[in-house]
Amino acid sequence: MSEVRWKKIEEILDEKRTDETVHLHGWIYRTRSSGNIAFTVIRDVTGTIQATVKKGNLPDNEFEDAKKALIESSVELKGIVKEDKRAPEGYELQVKGFNVVNFAEPFPIVKDQSPEFLLDQRHLWIRSQKLTSILKIRSTAVGAIHKFFRDRGYFEFDAPILQPNQCEGGSTLFEVKYYDNKTYLSQTWQLYAEAAVFSLEKIYNMGPTFRAERSKTSRHLSEFWMAEMEAAWMDLHNVTEIAKEEVKFILSEVLKHNKRELNLLKQDINKLQHIAESEFSTITYTKALEILNEKENMNVQWGKDLRTIEENKLMNHFDTPIVVTNYPLEIMAFYKPKDPDDPKTALCFDMIAPGEYGEIVGGSQRNLDVEDMEKKLKESGENIENYEWYFDLRRYGSVPHSGYGLGVERVVAWICGIDNIKDAIPFPRTILRFRP
Ligand code: 4AD
Ligand code: MG
Repeated sequence: MSEVRWKKIEEILDEKRTDETVHLHGWIYRTRSSGNIAFTVIRDVTGTIQATVKKGNLPDNEFEDAKKALIESSVELKGIVKEDKRAPEGYELQVKGFNVVNFAEPFPIVKDQSPEFLLDQRHLWIRSQKLTSILKIRSTAVGAIHKFFRDRGYFEFDAPILQPNQCEGGSTLFEVKYYDNKTYLSQTWQLYAEAAVFSLEKIYNMGPTFRAERSKTSRHLSEFWMAEMEAAWMDLHNVTEIAKEEVKFILSEVLKHNKRELNLLKQDINKLQHIAESEFSTITYTKALEILNEKENMNVQWGKDLRTIEENKLMNHFDTPIVVTNYPLEIMAFYKPKDPDDPKTALCFDMIAPGEYGEIVGGSQRNLDVEDMEKKLKESGENIENYEWYFDLRRYGSVPHSGYGLGVERVVAWICGIDNIKDAIPFPRTILRFRP
């Protein structure tokens, strides 16, 4: 078989070479047969094509195998390309050879099964058209993030995954036994990135991130991938503009490479194209409360964080992602500094996606005031000795610096228009699920 030139389905459909004999390998996506004919639909990574198997066109034993083979059987076909107006793709194969590589057992997944069942069967469901499309888009998004930063002179920098400190709140730490000690899984790359910007100046990373989230929402995973950047000499405004550019770049790369997948997911391509070409607004938290009050008749007390419901209502008034800056200082992490021009607020931002996808990016300028950070950490019950190394960064040639983290699954979920973040990662981990 080594000399066979295997064609991809997309090639066959693009080339439209009627009467050409082609070799194809893939999996049976659908099949039905009656008497002397079997209609199969074959899938490979690039698409699906109908293959008609008629007794007499191929050896009898292969015809019998074709009739017998159940969906998800893996097959090698030889066939002649024929135009067929009735076939979903306009072309089909008249099968001349049908070799079953593996006869699949009855596939456990049939139509209309519950999300929980599909999660139990994730190792099989991952080959569905829906998940295949999402995973291709995810791959484009991840590639785009690397390209975005590398093209702009950022170095890729890796931080440890096992970390002795919290950064985003002690309550979501995953504790790990570490020999006779204990440590935690990374909640963010940030603290280590702050050490590195004093040499590499502009850095980025994309890595696994862990948070023991207690809430069951359609936005939270316990293990997710965060794409973060950190840069010396940059302020809040600089990084919000980079975050906007990055999100637009990811979107435009997906639009360039994944139209077919977006169509399969029934996404409105024109709408996404419009977003990729639009300006994203920046407003303050205070302004956001005004919009909620005036246009949604919602009274949020100044000082309270925006909840899901408020973010969703706010996004009724925007059709692109927006940046919200200057959240109340009181409720922000220790590393977010006071805004000297508005001291009740912090020099920080979230980017919120349109629709009901919520926060896709979070970041800030970094606090340079060691005493202030010590005070905040003490208040939240932290042992400040563990942060001495971090405070050192403020003692030896510190400069203003800023950064942010983008939730890869949040962005993928938004671009794909899927209703649960669990479908934006191959094998989701949540409070209720760590298998398969
Ligand atoms: O806003 P967060 O918590 O920010 C940080 O961790 C900063 N240290 C990043 C930085 O400045 N370098 O998280 C950043 C993003 C959020 O905007 C969200 O998109 C995503 O990470 N995220 C989650 N995604 C899925 N599941 C979760 N449990 C998430 N928690 C945060
Ligand atoms: Mg955040």
